[in-house]
Amino acid sequence: MSKKRALVTGITGQDGSYLAENLLSKGYEVLGMVRRTSTINFDRIRHFQNEVTIVQGDLLDQMSLLDILREYRPEEVYNLAAQSFVPTSWKQPVLTGEFTALGVTRVLEAIRMVDAGIRFYQASSSEMFGRVQETPQKETTPFYPRSPYGVAKVYGHWITVNYRESYELYACSGILFNHESPRRGLEFVTHKVTYGAARIKLGMAEELRLGNLEARRDWGYAGDYVEAMWLMLQQEEPDDYVIATGETHSVQALCEAAFGYLGLDWREYVECDPQYFRPAEVDLLVGDASKARDRLGWEPSVRFEELIQLMVDADLKALQMDKG
Ligand code: NAP
Ligand code: GDD
Repeated sequence: MSKKRALVTGITGQDGSYLAENLLSKGYEVLGMVRRTSTINFDRIRHFQNEVTIVQGDLLDQMSLLDILREYRPEEVYNLAAQSFVPTSWKQPVLTGEFTALGVTRVLEAIRMVDAGIRFYQASSSEMFGRVQETPQKETTPFYPRSPYGVAKVYGHWITVNYRESYELYACSGILFNHESPRRGLEFVTHKVTYGAARIKLGMAEELRLGNLEARRDWGYAGDYVEAMWLMLQQEEPDDYVIATGETHSVQALCEAAFGYLGLDWREYVECDPQYFRPAEVDLLVGDASKARDRLGWEPSVRFEELIQLMVDADLKALQMDKG
């Protein structure tokens, strides 16, 4: 039997790298879409780069998406590419809308034109819940986005639902709460804290400057969350699912966990810096993933403390290797 073929947009990102590995382990042929950059940024995929087919394309370029689908004919498309950093979305709101909102329509249009039988996964976000209308948040909770990024993701979510209903595409929107790993970008708060604490422990830094310590998030492990993406595309009917741990912790609790694991008192090192506060904040996120548990059989395997510890351990190891 021939291998199933999947296209992953955003393969060079955190989730793209875990999803590609996951699909390879299931026997898929994986196509990874990358955009042209002057320096190759394959750090997260170098260890399996030879096992995937890299294809050039950009969410801004409709023809490139059409060409990829026409040439490779994947059965599944996972659209993970986006401008994904919330603060940047206030600095570049139009570009964020182009990538994160309209980019979804471009992928859906390409699918509709080339092969309406392709199964589609859209990387939606708990950031859509923003100023939360109920707690915990689930699939039926109304959206109230609080950033240009959140607004763009609401568009991406609804255009996915709309193409499912208009053209009977098998299109799913995964509403994923924050998920982290040693491959997380260093600008996101979990990795900023674990990396910063590890540097302080090794005598490489003296302080860590952060923004709002009171914000609360439902943080899970990226490796668990990519399995949920795949499960969504294996069902009889397409649908939308919340993916979350059901636990919420503050940024302060994150500091306590990371510094505490290293035997340090976070209060001696963390400084609040107004530059990291946002024009509008999402104060509290906590998800109810019971639909995913009941219908997909999905459960998170890594909890908050363990997640932070595995990130601190990975940062310490990498920094010690750099030191030589
Ligand atoms: P990430 O690490 O920032 O990766 C984003 C990926 O998108 C990168 O591979 C990036 O390529 C690519 N990309 C950006 N603009 C592009 C464009 N115009 N054309 C083609 N590729 C482009 O993000 P992530 O954490 O893996 O998240 C994956 C997806 O899930 C994103 O859509 C994000 O918004 C969404 N999401 C993430 C979380 C989370 O907690 N991680 C939660 C909910 C939803 P370069 O390497 O070239 O920059
Ligand atoms: N990045 C950052 N840096 N955040 C800080 C800092 C800091 O120095 N200090 C406090 N925070 C707070 C932010 O104000 C926010 O409330 C929280 O930490 C989490 O920030 P991020 O880690 O940047 O993630 P996010 O929740 O804004 O967005 C991530 O999760 C979304 C899902 O809810 C991203 O991965 C999005 O792409 C994703 O959709």
